[in-house]
Order: sequence, then structure tokens, then C-alpha cells
Amino acid sequence: MKLTPQQLHIPALLRATARFLRPEKSDRYLDLTAGYGGHALEIITATGDARSAVLIDRDEDAIKVLRKKFPQSRLLHSDFLAAARELVRDGEKFDMILADFGVSSPQLDMAERGFSFMRDGPLDMRMDGGAGETAAELIGRLKEKALTDIIIRFGEEKPKLAARIAKALKRGRPTTTVQAAKIIARQYGGGYHKIHPATRTFQALRIAVNDELGQIDETLRLLPELLADGGRVAIISFHSLEDRLVKQFFKEHSEAGYEADLEILTKKAIRGDTEDVNNPRARSAKLRVARKIKKPTERRF
Ligand SMILES: C[S@@+](CC[C@H](N)C(=O)[O-])C[C@H]1O[C@@H](n2cnc3c(N)ncnc32)[C@H](O)[C@@H]1O
Repeated sequence: MKLTPQQLHIPALLRATARFLRPEKSDRYLDLTAGYGGHALEIITATGDARSAVLIDRDEDAIKVLRKKFPQSRLLHSDFLAAARELVRDGEKFDMILADFGVSSPQLDMAERGFSFMRDGPLDMRMDGGAGETAAELIGRLKEKALTDIIIRFGEEKPKLAARIAKALKRGRPTTTVQAAKIIARQYGGGYHKIHPATRTFQALRIAVNDELGQIDETLRLLPELLADGGRVAIISFHSLEDRLVKQFFKEHSEAGYEADLEILTKKAIRGDTEDVNNPRARSAKLRVARKIKKPTERRF
């Protein structure tokens, strides 16, 4: 049997996520990155209440699948920052919030989406298909220095190598993923490399094209307002730049003394390589969970 792309996305850290979110009957669920609904299915089955679930994704292909899978839920085809702002404006509250960052396996696997250096496709990388600038356009627009900075900051590439890669990309003007990967690999030189030479630069381009860290940073700040008292938020990150933002945010909100509004439930991040040993893409996953502190009601004298 041939599997469709959406069947091939195995949700990362599914058991640990459900254990920490602790879904109960009629709990309200917000999924900021619903993707192909793997986590959502587990949670909504436990709450028995698809109607009060809100599922967000900026990828239209994912939304089409979610619509079939969860016809009763509210679906928002949007980036999660814009959607979260709307929910805050409407005064919505949730008992569970999940964010499972990064790209889905179907996004990586479909050559035409342009995320993969293993499959030749247009150098695109936009999660929401039609909107905004593609990776090829970004390379064309940015000055060499700005491109170097992005490869260093978002790809955590060595500065000298990043400068060489940026120069070669500007000169080569790749329009496909494989062209770009070859240009990058040439700057590395031969020999054995632990990861594919294009990994870091592709990560950097993807983060820049989708403003991934800006989206995360601003959305985190809205979470306390979106959580009901005692509500749980679970966040799965796939690289250190994302995880650092989450860790720092949880720390600030749990160590604010009297003003603290979150309590951390995972002292250390739960790692994907302990649970998802058979899912190579989940190996780098890290799960952090916090709970909204119930504030004592003000006493009147
Ligand atoms: C790792 S997948 C989620 C998989 C999902 N948990 C499941 O079990 O099927 C990440 C999803 O988040 C979406 N995404 C990433 N950044 C987003 C953003 N800023 N706003 C909305 N969706 C985003 C991607 O389009 C992708 O579908």
C-alpha cells in the first residue's frame, strides 16, 4: 500500500506530550501547529470534545487534511502569531496548548515545497505556499554580509565558512534545492562530514524565509493570557535556537516571584531520543511543559 504524505508524519514525543497535557473530558484544546493532526487526534480523543478544539496551521495542505479529520473543530489557516492575537482579542481561554515547531515530514518529503536538499525542487521553503519571499528570492535580495549573518545566526555555521557559502550562493544564484546544496557542499571541501554540509545553511534559510524565531518569540508572550487557570502548555522544539527561547520564557515567567504566572512541569526537557527511537526526525526533539498558576482571588476587607 502506498502511504499518502500525511500518513507519514509520525508525531514526535506523543506519549510524553499527552502525559503532561493530561487531557480531561471537555478540556479546551489549542494546537498552534496542528499539521496533520497526530497530536490533535490523541488529545481530542481523550477530551471527547472536538468542538472546543482550535487547530492552527499556516500550511494549506495541512488545513485540508485537518478539515477532513476534525470537521467539528475550529480551523485557522494562519500563522500562529496572527491567530493567537485574534484569540487573545476575543478573550478565549484554553486548558491545553500545544506547539510542535518546525516542518512536517510531508513538507520535507515533497520536492516541490523546496525544503529538502536531498530532493530536487524549486528553492522555495515557504510554509504557507503562496505568501512572501522564497529562499531563492531571499538570496537574490540580501547583500552578501546580511546573508552571511543569517547563516551564522540561524544556521549556527562557522563564521568563515558562512562567509564563503554566502559569497558562493550570491554568485551562483541557485534556483533549485540541489543546485544550492551542491554550491554549499563545494565550500566545505571533500572528506567525511557528520551531517550533510547543506544542513545548517538550509535551516538558516528556512528560519529566515518563515520568520520562525520572530513568530515563536512573540507568540510565547501571549500564552499566559490564552491559558485558563491550571492550564498546561507543551512546547516541542527541534533545534537549540527554538529551545533557548522556550527555556528562557518559562524561566522568566516562573521565577518572577509574586508575579510568576507559570510553573515549570519539566525540570529538564524531555528528549525525543528517549521515546522516539524509531523516528529519526524526532531524535532532536525537546519537550518543555508549564502550567498556569492559579492566582488566589483578591481578598476584600
Ligand atoms: C512538526 S509539524 C506539526 C505536526 C503535528 N503536531 C502532527 O502531529 O501532525 C509543524 C507544523 O507547524 C506548522 N507551522 C510552523 N510554523 C508555523 C507558524 N508560525 N504558524 C502556523 N503554523 C506553523 C507547519 O506548517 C507544520 O505543519
